[in-house]
Amino acid sequence: MTDFAPLLVADRAQKARPIHLVDKGSFEAWAKKRPPEDRALVQAHRFDAKSAFAFVLLPRGGDFEVVSAVKNAGEISPWCLAKLGASLPEGTYKLGEGEPGKAALGWLLAQHKFDPYRSRKPDEPDRGPRVLVTGEAAKVEPTLRLAEATALVRDLVNTPAGDLGPAELEQAVRDEADTAGAQVRLTSGKELAEGYPLIAAVGGGASPARAPRLIELEWGKPDHPRVAVVGKGVCFDSGGLDLKPASGMRLMKKDMGGAAHALALARLIMAERLPVRLHLLIPAVENAVSEGAYRPGDIVKSRKGLFVEIDNTDAEGRLILADALAKAGEAAPELIVDFATLTGAARVALGPDLPALFANRDELAGAIESAARHVEDPLWRMPLWDPYDELLKSDIADVANASGSPMAGCITAAMFLKKFIPDEIAWAHLDTFAWRDQAKPGRPKGGDALGLRAVFDLLKARYLPG
Ligand code: BES
Ligand code: ZN
Ligand code: ZN
Repeated sequence: MTDFAPLLVADRAQKARPIHLVDKGSFEAWAKKRPPEDRALVQAHRFDAKSAFAFVLLPRGGDFEVVSAVKNAGEISPWCLAKLGASLPEGTYKLGEGEPGKAALGWLLAQHKFDPYRSRKPDEPDRGPRVLVTGEAAKVEPTLRLAEATALVRDLVNTPAGDLGPAELEQAVRDEADTAGAQVRLTSGKELAEGYPLIAAVGGGASPARAPRLIELEWGKPDHPRVAVVGKGVCFDSGGLDLKPASGMRLMKKDMGGAAHALALARLIMAERLPVRLHLLIPAVENAVSEGAYRPGDIVKSRKGLFVEIDNTDAEGRLILADALAKAGEAAPELIVDFATLTGAARVALGPDLPALFANRDELAGAIESAARHVEDPLWRMPLWDPYDELLKSDIADVANASGSPMAGCITAAMFLKKFIPDEIAWAHLDTFAWRDQAKPGRPKGGDALGLRAVFDLLKARYLPG
């Protein structure tokens, strides 16, 4: 894990190279105030502040300053220093004007690398740390924590399924619990089969070393409001007997991305000591093919008592979440939030960058949408459209886990989950990709947190005084 702490430090009048952020509107005025050699240099580089993330080093008495283009110099975004954080030479830097604010996060994340599987480092020169100095000392710790939580999601998702099965996911939860002084409860084997039949059914095809389990973490004072956080922990999704084609299976190590988001959110809640009673639930399974695998047409009586007919063994995420959500509801929390890489349909509808948000309260959905805008961690609301319940009808059981229709797949998946949530509990569901297909500054290709900061910001707004 990258040690972010040395990379963002409070201003103690240390020597730091200035970074000047300009946009196409402010560039001319800025250039006019600079010495002629600066103007000549930016001109030679054809730097006009129009192409985002372009930058030029300006020699200054044996050292240098930096000028970098941003979209809007008056409004700092989380990613406007990310290219610089990744590309500048080793050393200490500081904004020439203003403070980095949100952009410190991108600076940090640009320096995170996932390299435990490289025996030789790539060709790029091995540069030392790029340190950012900020005048906002109080923001250093919270920003470091957000970077660490995001890196946790990336690392867990990037780790191959062979090295991250249900047991390793359990260990990851135990590590967080140890750090924060939280309690862990593990349910597996016979107890799982009796108490959580859907989790046991989905995990039935896995080898004994990768047996299914429900991992729960509890933290906080009993008199604080209860909040449940649930994450889909499918350590590998082969599709089961309804096997995925190679192209659809290739990325399925990331099918525990929801669990990674839930665990990272738990870490943030505990580190920031939010006054809530946290209940984290991670159903951890491998959706594998073997003589123990569950079958299309099987009917399983869920924890809640609803009989579920298995229409498709590849719609496994909603099954394990159903039992975990039912358990979460039993403790009567005032809020349940779940994260899941639940459907390909959410990606068809919204693409890779926008998690689909579902909520059973307009007020909650609105608050998450505004938190998402506030921290620039976008998502998009989709409807829990009751009439589509029709699509989940089973001929002989209470409900089927998938519909025969290719339409509205992420809505029917969310409608399935809704059956396991008591109406009186506010609930939000994020169908997230947990992955980045194309690198962006500060966000390499691979596992990523999408929707995590938005939900954490919502919780802070709700539960932190002031
Ligand atoms: N893990 C997948 C969903 C997924 C696929 C997320 C690709 C992100 C990218 C999930 O378990 C699944 O296979 N869902 C099926 C449901 C269908 C069988 C009703 C899907 O979306 O096709
Ligand atoms: Zn699946
Ligand atoms: Zn899945």
